[in-house]
Amino acid sequence: MQICQSQAELARHLERFERVAFVPTMGNLHRGHLSLVDIARERGDCVVTSIFVNRLQFGPNEDFDRYPRTFEADREGLERRGVDVLFAPDEQEMYPTPQVYRVQPPPLATELEGAFRPGFFDGVCTVVLKLFNLVQPDIAVFGKKDRQQLKIVRGMVQQFNMPIQIVAAETVRADDGLALSSRNGYLTADERKEAPRMYRTLRWIADEIAGGRTDYANLEVAGRAELARNGWSVDYVAVRHGLALRIPHPEGYDHPNLLIVLAAAKLGNTRLIDNVDVVPKHNED
Ligand code: PAF
Repeated sequence: MQICQSQAELARHLERFERVAFVPTMGNLHRGHLSLVDIARERGDCVVTSIFVNRLQFGPNEDFDRYPRTFEADREGLERRGVDVLFAPDEQEMYPTPQVYRVQPPPLATELEGAFRPGFFDGVCTVVLKLFNLVQPDIAVFGKKDRQQLKIVRGMVQQFNMPIQIVAAETVRADDGLALSSRNGYLTADERKEAPRMYRTLRWIADEIAGGRTDYANLEVAGRAELARNGWSVDYVAVRHGLALRIPHPEGYDHPNLLIVLAAAKLGNTRLIDNVDVVPKHNED
């Protein structure tokens, strides 16, 4: 595996490949990330992974400084998984001057995650656009765990006519249902035991909808109450239409197959997010 820290090295190493499949990450890799790498492997003749903790997507009170940086372990994991090129730029390489030009994402970026993390998607889109320009991938793989990010990046690629196929990867879960996330490492032992409740709550709402309920607002309230009762500080529990994450029609006209349920909440100091399809569908989003 080639490790490239500069744009020039990266360009040199990518020259000879036909079909580049890219997995952007912020490091602290777990099985979820490695599953994205496997999907990239199936689709490209060269797999590029980036590790870059992107300051632009962290709010002033968020965990940029304490975000886990585990480069050596990440490097070994990627090498074992057969990644061809690891792009690991430092901040100076990515932002040699203050990044005053930014991508302005659509209104969806101010809802759900964006309502609680102002500027988050502008930071994500800006770095993803820069990474796409540097790597020039044919394919890029994003996890469904960050469902809103996946939608917004897909929309950016379409609207800016970028010739990149965005591939959605299923969320990888621990045996008890907790979605794998770099932030799980912050949980205390007791919080870790409690954490799968988010998935169970989402699944319960999804099953109620699959069973015919269309009173989405009541289900959202019940989901929030279930988490709050168990010590979570809830940002949102929301039923949305899977296609563009719009609010579903209150009369229940949307087919349950197309609905998803999303949540974000804090356990202690750790903010977790997750989402489920009402009817699980593999490799679609
Ligand atoms: O999902 C992430 O890890 C990040 O948001 C991404 C896409 C690597 C951009 O920094």
